[in-house]
Amino acid sequence: MKKAVVLISGSGSNLQAFIDLIGADQLPIQIALVVSNNANAYGLQRAAMAGIQTKVIDHRAYNSRSEFDATLIEEIDAFEPEIVILAGFMRILTAEFVDHYQNRLLNIHPSLLPKYPGTNTHQRAIDSKDEWHGASIHFVVPEVDAGPVILQGRIKVNASDTPDSLQARIHKIEHQLYPLAVKWLAQGRLSTKNGLVLLDDETSTEQLQTFDL
Ligand code: GRF
Repeated sequence: MKKAVVLISGSGSNLQAFIDLIGADQLPIQIALVVSNNANAYGLQRAAMAGIQTKVIDHRAYNSRSEFDATLIEEIDAFEPEIVILAGFMRILTAEFVDHYQNRLLNIHPSLLPKYPGTNTHQRAIDSKDEWHGASIHFVVPEVDAGPVILQGRIKVNASDTPDSLQARIHKIEHQLYPLAVKWLAQGRLSTKNGLVLLDDETSTEQLQTFDL
């Protein structure tokens, strides 16, 4: 059982997906701590309901990003996690933080990276009249939303789609794929080579999955 810390800022529906699968013995991790930079994040309640320890570290109480990140590291490392999961954590992290958790820090981003790093991804996909849109799970590197991709899930964009309708369907993809990537990491099956992710020492052929949602 690998120990994990999950960082959130909001609803925490991905956190809930982890909690549910752990409860069903389908995800071999133990969430030791949930950290939020936002005291009002609903995910904190989800964690508390699951009996998971929580910690609020408000970035506004710090003078700089590096001071905030240093506190984050201190609080996280007190639990000695093998895996650190960013699940809707809306802060840009310093290179010091990212390097500290190299190869054990994952993020989920709501676009088909390298398309649309940053925010407003659903609106940008609609504005660009994209045929496909989706979510990517990747190892974190200092450059934002740029790390080696582990898994991607995509759906067809409909003419009637709005950012909200896309987000709702993409969340369903996220809740399936993020636990899978975390499971692979917990099982020691993931590695990176030349910026690519290897599963069981091989390049995965099913890195991009299409969903009919
Ligand atoms: C997800 O859409 C994720 O891709 C993005 O933030 C959102 C978090 O959602 N990074 P939730 O808090 O897990 O519901």
